Amino acid sequence: MTTVPTINDITLAELSENPYPIYARLRKQAPIAWVPAANIILVTRFDTIKYIDTHPEFFPAFNPQSLQIRAMGHSMMRKDGEDHRLERAVLQKSVNSDTIQGYWMPRFERIVDELIDGFRDKCEADLFTDFAAPMASLCLMEILGLTNVNWQDLCDWSQTLMDAVGNYGDDPQIWARQQQVSSLIDKALDQMIEIKRATPDPTFISQMANSETLSLEQIRANVKVIIGGGINEPRDATCTALYGLLSNPEQLSLVREQPSEPMWGKVFEEAIRYCAPIGMYPRRVAKDMELEGVALKRNDQLGLVVASACHDEKYWDHGDRFDINRKRCTHLAFGTGPHLCLGFRTARMQVGQLSVPSLIARLPGLRLNPEKAARFGGWVFRGPLSLPVKWNL
Ligand code: HEM
Repeated sequence: MTTVPTINDITLAELSENPYPIYARLRKQAPIAWVPAANIILVTRFDTIKYIDTHPEFFPAFNPQSLQIRAMGHSMMRKDGEDHRLERAVLQKSVNSDTIQGYWMPRFERIVDELIDGFRDKCEADLFTDFAAPMASLCLMEILGLTNVNWQDLCDWSQTLMDAVGNYGDDPQIWARQQQVSSLIDKALDQMIEIKRATPDPTFISQMANSETLSLEQIRANVKVIIGGGINEPRDATCTALYGLLSNPEQLSLVREQPSEPMWGKVFEEAIRYCAPIGMYPRRVAKDMELEGVALKRNDQLGLVVASACHDEKYWDHGDRFDINRKRCTHLAFGTGPHLCLGFRTARMQVGQLSVPSLIARLPGLRLNPEKAARFGGWVFRGPLSLPVKWNL
């Protein structure tokens, strides 16, 4: 048994620029490694991450030092066992298959159509700002039941909460802004709780407000965690799927010639495998133990790098290539175990079966803009920062 190796020569700037070559090196040389720049032990192999995520008794999600709990309150995302299961069961009702198909999809279709109608005549757009960001925010307002705010504010609040969750430098200005935004969210939420108690519906807020098992504090924390985490992933997955297709013309031709539900499903799964919107999330070590020959200590913080797991050469050849014809589709971009993404079915429909196919179908000759390159960035959260495109009328 060895102590956790330290890898000193990795910088945050390099991780943010392009983490994938670094992950490939870590998977090979030090798959469980203390990376001082990230202030966490990074775990980079598929099998190890799957083991950790499916053994919450050794690797709980709860962490008393969690910045997420400080920023958003104690949501189910940082709970374990029965406490977690009870809260998740309440929210689950909003996102079962029948509710998504029958209730959410018609609403999402309206949002997607109206957004495309708004810019279709221009023949040029940045699909990140003109489509994916408003689409993700407007869809989340619906599913949360927070329709008394505007989508730009929701995006801004989401970013503020995420900045606070990543505030390892303890910047007081970030905490001040988080306080301000938390009060705005609580005010909007209080108003909607009244409305949803009088007229229940399938939204997350209605399910929680009418459950009788959740306190106001629990509702507030879960709403904030969903605002913090429910916008950037569908936004980034949409842009990555489009980028993957538009930069691989033979794959674009294939989906244009044989569009089908399974085909669009492959596009979506490959997009989030190729560039996982949530690249890394934390778990805590519950007691001193050995993991794959490495000694871990109680309360060590592990960063599960699912973005790396999704490129693990044990399961994928040339993982850095976007390829919708791959055989294996079981990835870890939605996590696994008890905290498997609650929104995975919603995201598959909203992004994979609706947004991406609608853009391809309604914007003839859609292509990357040769004068403005698409940019990617980030590692804890990673995705396209812009997606300039052109099309014909
Ligand atoms: C492509 C889109 C998405 C991706 C890649 C994604 C990814 C993930 C991942 C990796 C986790 C696990 C985090 C952890 O264990 O710490 C997670 C959890 C979660 N996600 Fe998603 N997500 C997506 C979309 C959504 C959407 C649209 C919603 C809401 C409508 C949502 C709601 C949640 C919630 C509530 C959890 C916490 C589940 C729990 O703790 O039991 N996600 N997501």
